[in-house]
Order: sequence, then C-alpha cells, then structure tokens
Amino acid sequence: MLLCLTGWLAPQLGLADIDPAEYGLKSSVRSEKERQRLQAEFHTDKKREAELQRQEEEIEARRLAAEKAAWDALPYPVRLTKSRCTTCHIADYYTRQRHNRIGWGLVNLRMQYWNGVALTAEERVAIADYLAESYPAAGAAAMLEALLQLAVPLLPLWLWLAWKITRSRFGKRLNE
Ligand code: HEC
Repeated sequence: MLLCLTGWLAPQLGLADIDPAEYGLKSSVRSEKERQRLQAEFHTDKKREAELQRQEEEIEARRLAAEKAAWDALPYPVRLTKSRCTTCHIADYYTRQRHNRIGWGLVNLRMQYWNGVALTAEERVAIADYLAESYPAAGAAAMLEALLQLAVPLLPLWLWLAWKITRSRFGKRLNE
C-alpha cells in the first residue's frame, strides 16, 4: 500500500520540480540596439517572404497563360468535344473507343437523349465527324459494327422472314 502511494507520489513531485528560471526572460530583448537589429531582421524576412510569394504567383500566372494558349491552339472540334464530353467522362474514356461515323453519331445521340447532354444538331455533327476521323473503328470490329448497323434497320425483314418460315412449316404439318 505504502509502495503504491510512493509510486504515485513520485511523478507528482517530479512535475513540480521544474526550475522557475526556465520561464525566465532569456529571450527578451535587453537593449534598444538589439531591438532594432531584431526588427530589421524581421523586416528582411517579411520582404523575402513577399518576394517569394510574388514569384510563386508569377509562375502560376504563366502556367495558366500557357494552359489557355494551348487550349486556344486546339482545333474547334477538339475544344467542342472536350468541353461537352469531359463534364462526365475523362477524355481517355471516349478516345479509347472506336466507332465509324454512324457509330459516333449514335453515341452522341444516346448521350443527348439518354444521358441528357445539351447538344445542338451542329455540335453533334462536328463532334461525330471529329471522333470518327480521329478514333475510327478498324479491322474485324469495324466489319462487325457495320454489319450490325445494316442488320438492325432490317429487323422488320428478319421478323417477316421468320414468320414466313414458321408458318410454312406449321402449314405443312397440318396438311399431313
Ligand atoms: C451528362 C453526363 C455525360 C456527358 C456530358 C457525356 N456522357 Fe457519355 N456517358 C454517360 C453515361 C452515364 C454513360 C454510361 C451509360 C451509357 O452508355 O449510356 C456514358 C457512356 C459513354 C460511352 C460508352 C458507351 C458506348 O456506346 O461506347 C461513350 C463512348 C461516351 N459516353 C461518349 C461520350 C461523348 C463523345 C460525349 C460528348 C458528346 C459524352 N459521352 C458526354 C454520361 C455522359
């Protein structure tokens, strides 16, 4: 019990053991001359800081100007596509896709009517022209896309054919 008590007391005593001299005015300014020197130092520091900040702002302004110049240098369809499409996708998303002109036109139509993108007819044309020229479908994928684009509008024909075939078989069976 006693041991416990001393164990508890010792650190408490230790806490009170700080030399009041530690709080002394070691860093206080003692003479007018020193005060002036410190003030001058403080001013130089402030000036250097302001100069650094000015330099940083200049670099940032130059970066923004370069960015704007690069943007202005882009052809109109690229700027149009980026400003219309990168609100939802990163540009990589659609530049990784490949479609023919009809395919890109359909993508734009879907973006407009399905996903609610505000596009005028001229913008749709400009964007689809640009994307089809820059990111065209090639090889087997292009053939498949063209085939699908051909086959889908002929859907009524396929349905009619299927109906004909079924009916002729059914009719034959009835006659037997
Ligand atoms: C309002 C947000 C929004 C904007 C703006 C937008 N999209 Fe999309 N996009 C979507 C969503 C959501 C999907 C996924 C659902 C879908 O496929 O419809 C998608 C899917 C796609 C796909 C993949 C589907 C496919 O058919 O290959 C492509 C490519 C695409 N978008 C291209 C574009 C292009 C090009 C533009 C600019 C004209 C655009 N998007 C603008 C929302 C948007």
